[in-house]
Amino acid sequence: MRTDSDFLLKAYNTFGIEAVAKKIVFLEDSDDFRKLGDYAGQSFFILGGGSNVVFPDRYNGTVLHPVNKGIALVENRDGYYIVEAAAGEVWAEFVDYCISQGWYGVENLAGIPGTVGAAPVQNVGAYGMEAKDVVDAVHCFGIVSGEERWVGRNECRFAYRWSRFKGEWAGKYIIDRVRFRLNKTFVPNLSYKALATAIGDKDELTARLLANTVVSIRDSKLPNPKEIGSAGSFFKNPVVDGETYGRLKEQYPDMVAFPVEEGFKLAAGWLIEQCGWKGKRVGRVGVYEKQALVLVNRGGATGADVRALAEKIIDDVQAKFGVQIEPEAIMV
Ligand code: EPU
Repeated sequence: MRTDSDFLLKAYNTFGIEAVAKKIVFLEDSDDFRKLGDYAGQSFFILGGGSNVVFPDRYNGTVLHPVNKGIALVENRDGYYIVEAAAGEVWAEFVDYCISQGWYGVENLAGIPGTVGAAPVQNVGAYGMEAKDVVDAVHCFGIVSGEERWVGRNECRFAYRWSRFKGEWAGKYIIDRVRFRLNKTFVPNLSYKALATAIGDKDELTARLLANTVVSIRDSKLPNPKEIGSAGSFFKNPVVDGETYGRLKEQYPDMVAFPVEEGFKLAAGWLIEQCGWKGKRVGRVGVYEKQALVLVNRGGATGADVRALAEKIIDDVQAKFGVQIEPEAIMV
């Protein structure tokens, strides 16, 4: 088990915050995951690709960081494959590899920063699909209990940017590998309007072309973490009931919203933009000029800067629309 102390996390969080962790543990194989009992009574944080996290300047606990590797086809079932990938694999590379192998179904999730192990935790989603659509089961270790178990797709209780691993199991279990159910034939998912429009009427649509199109839409809206620090969408899109939606729609006929099971999902980017925040800068942080849902590091930002900006935006949206928006990013 490789460990380090007073470890600079700047390259380990896409916001680029110059945080220092008291200790970091690199989990390189299943044996390393088995030895985590020592951390049971201590404060620790499980870090994937660091693309959805805001660290304080100093984190006085231990960062548990899976870096194990491996992708393999483990079962060939009727109509689909079961593919297993280690938690430490980079998600976007996993998607590319699946496409190159003819394992289909993850194209719409191309280009998402982060790791395979983190994908089911917050049920990452984009362009008409979510991780839950392809996850078959998740293998994890109980940090306190030491138990080792498979958790089936339904048992994960996936919801919008949510699962049990982000809820009641946060800090209790750590994922070391994930099994995916991938198709043998390519069936494009063009349910997301902007994606269908970008694809147009190309008659030779391949999985690679679909993934490349997703990546180019992402590039046009989201900052490249190598150039501008951010955590992708900083807030979740809020869901409101029919009455609230009706009241707002009457007042703001241009409001962007989508019907969902529980009511209406409002586009938080639109709400934030209407409050005048898009492209604004406050010291070392700001709101991205092409997508108001994204907070960015304008150079030397601290976790406190990000929190303060997030709070101002939450307050403004509440004051103008009476709607509570919540961060999607995890504040350590
Ligand atoms: N909008 C605005 N102003 C803005 C941003 C968006 O008016 O500044 C409007 C757009 O015009 C559009 C609607 O809001 O009509 C939705 O915008 P977009 O398609 O960019 O999607 P989003 O709801 O803002 C979500 C995810 C993204 C994901 C995209 C595409 C969340 C919190 N975010 O963003 O996920 O890539 O859809 O599926 O659900 C992430 O989680 O980090 C992330 C980037």
